[in-house]
Amino acid sequence: MKRIVAILGFYVRLMPSFSALGYLARRLTWGRMRADFHGQRWVVTGGSDGIGRAIVRAAALAGAEVIAVARASERLERVVHGLPADAAARITTRAANLSLIRETATLADSLATAPGSIDVLVNNAGILLAAPEPTDEGLEASFTVNLLSHYQLTEALIGAGVIGANGVVVNMSSGGMYNVPLNIKGLLRTDPDRYSGKIVYACHKRAQVALTDYWNARYGDRGIQFHVMHPGWVRTAGVRRSMPLFAKLQAPVLRTPRQGGDTALWLCHARPQPQPDRIWFDRRPRGVHLMAATRNARSTPEALADYLQSMLERT
Ligand SMILES: NC(=O)c1ccc[n+]([C@@H]2O[C@H](COP(=O)([O-])OP(=O)(O)OC[C@H]3O[C@@H](n4cnc5c(N)ncnc54)[C@H](OP(=O)(O)O)[C@@H]3O)[C@@H](O)[C@H]2O)c1
Repeated sequence: MKRIVAILGFYVRLMPSFSALGYLARRLTWGRMRADFHGQRWVVTGGSDGIGRAIVRAAALAGAEVIAVARASERLERVVHGLPADAAARITTRAANLSLIRETATLADSLATAPGSIDVLVNNAGILLAAPEPTDEGLEASFTVNLLSHYQLTEALIGAGVIGANGVVVNMSSGGMYNVPLNIKGLLRTDPDRYSGKIVYACHKRAQVALTDYWNARYGDRGIQFHVMHPGWVRTAGVRRSMPLFAKLQAPVLRTPRQGGDTALWLCHARPQPQPDRIWFDRRPRGVHLMAATRNARSTPEALADYLQSMLERT
């Protein structure tokens, strides 16, 4: 009962800010964003639907050449529907299952060997599962999609020198991360009897925040900027699938995918300095803790990176 009250309290407290109401109120204070991404090459994972699709389309409309990555080819093909011909022509797609290390490696190789550098990488693909989904590589799909693939792809592209000075990496986290401290032990859960999709997802999303700090410390002197953001609560197929009751109850006030992706586009346009221990939301850096308990991290960003590297090396 106590837990249910705590969860309800969490949603009631955050609703005015995380819903479309918060977005619309804050937008009143923003000037018009005249983003011009001509000459830039972007990669957006999870780019065929929801927030990722909105980012792909908006970036292409603002002139970027965008590579959208997801599994289902049919959905990827539909990303360009309704766009003007010039923007549609700037979007290409790559089918890859990011729950598999071998497919992420193939994707990274093909991106690294293609001509030109990558100006923006949006690590957006993310899933919240009701039960663990073991992969044939001995891992679990939400862990690999939400976190390990982001680490693998980013490290591979930086290692190959294709994300260089002036590159921006945006990691799409979630307000769900406010519920848990950084804890490596919470990341890879495979026992169905002891699995809570929401907690595991929150652990992945918290880890993205720590990883962003790690990357800024490690690669900041190369001129690459790493940002972590959360989109608020957004009307997407992912939310309807993973949290149907929440999606139904909040339906009138959920953000559009374009509103959810706004901060990613703004970060790549405005290029603010990365700030440690901050998460971007509606174009502002916010604190990464809402509860005292989450300050008690059980791991460090460096230990997290070592752990993720060890996961890549053991498979
Ligand atoms: N919607 C929200 O309210 C909300 C709130 C907080 C954070 N977020 C975060 O925002 C991001 C996008 O969420 P969304 O709601 O827009 O999700 P969504 O509507 O479910 O779209 C997810 C995208 O990821 C792709 N994807 C899923 N599994 C994949 C895999 N194994 N390999 C490659 N691509 C995969 C999907 O295409 P395929 O299925 O074809 O692969 C799709 O393009 C996620 O990281 C999510 O955690 C969302």
